[in-house]
Amino acid sequence: MAEPAAFAQRDDASDRALRPRRLSDFTGQRAVTRNLALAVAAALQRKEQLDHVLLSGPPGLGKTTLAHILAAEMGAEIKETAGPLLERPGDLAGVLSGLKPGAVLFIDEIHSLKRVVEEYLYSAMEDFRITIQLGEGANSQTLTLNLPPFTLVGATTREGSLSPPFRSRFAIRERLDLYSAEELSTILTRSAALLGVESDADGLLLIAQRSRGTARYANNHLRRIRDLAQVHHGNRISTPVAVEGLAMLGVDGAGLTELDRRILHCLARHRRPVGLKTIAVTVGEEETTIEDLYEPFLIQSGFITKTPTGRQLMTAGYKHLGLAPSDPEPLGNQERIGF
Ligand SMILES: Nc1ncnc2c1ncn2[C@@H]1O[C@H](COP(=O)(O)OP(=O)(O)OP(=O)(O)O)[C@@H](O)[C@H]1O
Ligand SMILES: [Mg+2]
Repeated sequence: MAEPAAFAQRDDASDRALRPRRLSDFTGQRAVTRNLALAVAAALQRKEQLDHVLLSGPPGLGKTTLAHILAAEMGAEIKETAGPLLERPGDLAGVLSGLKPGAVLFIDEIHSLKRVVEEYLYSAMEDFRITIQLGEGANSQTLTLNLPPFTLVGATTREGSLSPPFRSRFAIRERLDLYSAEELSTILTRSAALLGVESDADGLLLIAQRSRGTARYANNHLRRIRDLAQVHHGNRISTPVAVEGLAMLGVDGAGLTELDRRILHCLARHRRPVGLKTIAVTVGEEETTIEDLYEPFLIQSGFITKTPTGRQLMTAGYKHLGLAPSDPEPLGNQERIGF
């Protein structure tokens, strides 16, 4: 059975190989790419630094990809770090002081920056200057670093966790949404060519339809199905090969994986709204992973809904499990999730 964590992996070498390098290669997210292209063109025309950019949205939709594209379009170097790596103001000062003029500083998971580090970042973003206190009490000294102009690109799966003053310091804020099956199909056509596997449009469309609106899922499914095509089917992804591959990966007709189905079963058993904590304990996954990685698609597809008292299974969710909202959850499924 497919291991859900495998779908959540980020930024490995094969992931990078499929990454579009320029805005013109980036499929979908039309409003986002249009706005970014305009901001870049205007900044280049004025020979100014691009304003700070905040990219938000569920995992695997292209935030990191867009950060690299922005640097490429600006002809700038990119330096990459992540919120959890910047524990102290000194860590931030180290990163900032190494920036070349005009560089893009990409901070992934920017919502997890500590408040104290975030506050130091304010003056760096506004005045390209940072004043740091070294030591404590009578022996403390302050150190002011003048920084070259740079563009901060922040990425987050949880924009709501950013404090309003921090969020407002990004002049450009763009939210990425789940892709349509047609857009994912276009992404897969490009990826299949890069991977050197032959494919039928219908085979790729089927994979696209079962990729939860997420580019990373689509590419990950493609890579695994390409193995199958290469070893057993003359290196061609036809519809039957796609069907076989998706079944092998534990991906069902709606694109749901084993963990999605466990979430649905958990809700089916309770019948009333269930808190995130209970779901997390029941399915054995982190609360944040469920909220960021699994829920957006389950909600968008109408399988579950969020209520003030928790998550609730909708009629479409019951149907997907082969149940009616009035049925008791069959015992076999209860056993499967350890009850
Ligand atoms: N619009 C797109 N066109 C083509 N490929 C894309 C697009 N968006 C994403 N991808 C592909 O999907 C993969 C995941 O994208 P990326 O790593 O940029 O997502 P992310 O939003 O940064 O995810 P996370 O929140 O997990 O860091 C990349 O390897 C890239 O190849
Ligand atoms: Mg990323």
